[in-house]
Amino acid sequence: MKPRILVAEDEAPIRDGIVAAFTDAGYEVVAAGSGREAIDRLQEQNFDLVISDYRMPEKDGLEVLNHARNQNEEAVVIVMTAYGTVDHAVEVMRAGAYDYLQKPFKVEDLEFKVSKALEHVRLRDHVRYLEDRVETGRDSGMVGSSRLMKEVWETVRKVAPSNAAVLIQGETGTGKELVAQAIHNNSDRRQAAFVKMNCAALPEGLLESELFGHERGSFTGAERKRTGRFELASGGTLFLDEIGNMSQGIQAKILRAIQEQEFERVGGTQTVHVDVRLVAATNGDLDEAIQRGTFREDLYYRLNVVNILMPSLRARKEDIEPLAAHFIETYARELNKDVKVLSPEALRVLYRYNWPGNVRELQNTIERAVLMAESQEIRPEDISTLGRHGTGAGAGADAMPVHLPPQGMDLEEIEKMVLLEALKMSNWVQKEAAALLNISSRAMNYKVKKFAITHPTWKKNREPEEDQDDGQDLYDDGLASRITNR
Ligand SMILES: Nc1ncnc2c1ncn2[C@@H]1O[C@H](COP(=O)(O)OP(=O)(O)OP(=O)(O)O)[C@@H](O)[C@H]1O
Ligand SMILES: [Mg+2]
Repeated sequence: MKPRILVAEDEAPIRDGIVAAFTDAGYEVVAAGSGREAIDRLQEQNFDLVISDYRMPEKDGLEVLNHARNQNEEAVVIVMTAYGTVDHAVEVMRAGAYDYLQKPFKVEDLEFKVSKALEHVRLRDHVRYLEDRVETGRDSGMVGSSRLMKEVWETVRKVAPSNAAVLIQGETGTGKELVAQAIHNNSDRRQAAFVKMNCAALPEGLLESELFGHERGSFTGAERKRTGRFELASGGTLFLDEIGNMSQGIQAKILRAIQEQEFERVGGTQTVHVDVRLVAATNGDLDEAIQRGTFREDLYYRLNVVNILMPSLRARKEDIEPLAAHFIETYARELNKDVKVLSPEALRVLYRYNWPGNVRELQNTIERAVLMAESQEIRPEDISTLGRHGTGAGAGADAMPVHLPPQGMDLEEIEKMVLLEALKMSNWVQKEAAALLNISSRAMNYKVKKFAITHPTWKKNREPEEDQDDGQDLYDDGLASRITNR
């Protein structure tokens, strides 16, 4: 983006000279022939810098300066004063001018002052950006500066310090949990606990006792008194995740706990008082659940004092690149691989995809790609598993377990991908991965070496030893002949 400069000067030759010089130097320049006109221009748009003559008809430079500073207290204004009018210079500096320049001057002098001033603006904005990031993203590790994410940050920053309940909605993998954590981290409750409860994971009875705790002997198996999450979160934040499918009974109890900040433990009579800030999340459609009568409207309003809608990744594709860079760094370190960047073609592949699983899917894709990559650069073939879980069409029961891109791909790559997938699913235990693929451990060991697959949890000496005999079982899978042919 070119810096935009307003030049206010009533003497046409001087004005034209300045405009020409700065246009040539690559700035966007707007000219004004009087103070009046300069003020009109200031009302129309934002300028990175204003250069104004002091003595002009109608409104003088001081008025232009005051106007600019009233509109934006950080406006950067350089005033040109006539030779011998030191009092004017003093006056404008007192009024908040960034600098002044006595006429007559060389254009280079002005250029120097302008570049110095713009450098000051750039540093100021950068510092502010860093402060923002540290402030809002404190410990949340969130990446992304698209307009949509900036709006999310803006809301987080505004609501975090209050005790208002926040409902975070959005597709799976969009970062709802990270935002919940960021709200807590940016609130006055950050020293106290951030307690999370996945409300979809447990049947009603267990969920109730997880949320509110139980007294000893309150039901079979309740051998000890248990403190519930509401109590654990007292003074801090309770994050209720996946609230879309809770039973009516639980909904009623949560409603009361939020409204009254009190409840009884399961099997208890004593009322427990708490001080809990609620953040809830769902990837379901609560409006529809309310229509169907499965979600209480009153609870919805209690939870939805502030609403944050997490944008899908496909709605903010400009975040793909910084997110990918972030994940490459993370996984290169974790997997101890020297992978640094995406190739431009690989980035295009990521851009073309529609990311139904959002950031989580991107994260998993990059993790696999870092594993697959054979150089410092991730290439399209390293990320060709995209769409494995379907982009809509073709994700049915009869869909191929491996997605073959239209341009086709090397069978060896597919084999490596499947090996990696099996290893990941088996927590990198080779024997289990071998069982998943119905090959012997030795065959697995052979393939792992062949494809130079490594994992930090594997210690050299713990890998299965290769037998002396050339191993019939090495060839007991369909890929053997191809392997030996290479
Ligand atoms: N902006 C981001 N920067 C870095 N990592 C992110 C970002 N957004 C999401 N992630 C990562 O993506 C994964 C999914 O995020 P998270 O668990 O917060 O999503 P979610 O919206 O709660 O998903 P679900 O609805 O499936 O529970 C996590 O590993 C998280 O660290
Ligand atoms: Mg989640």
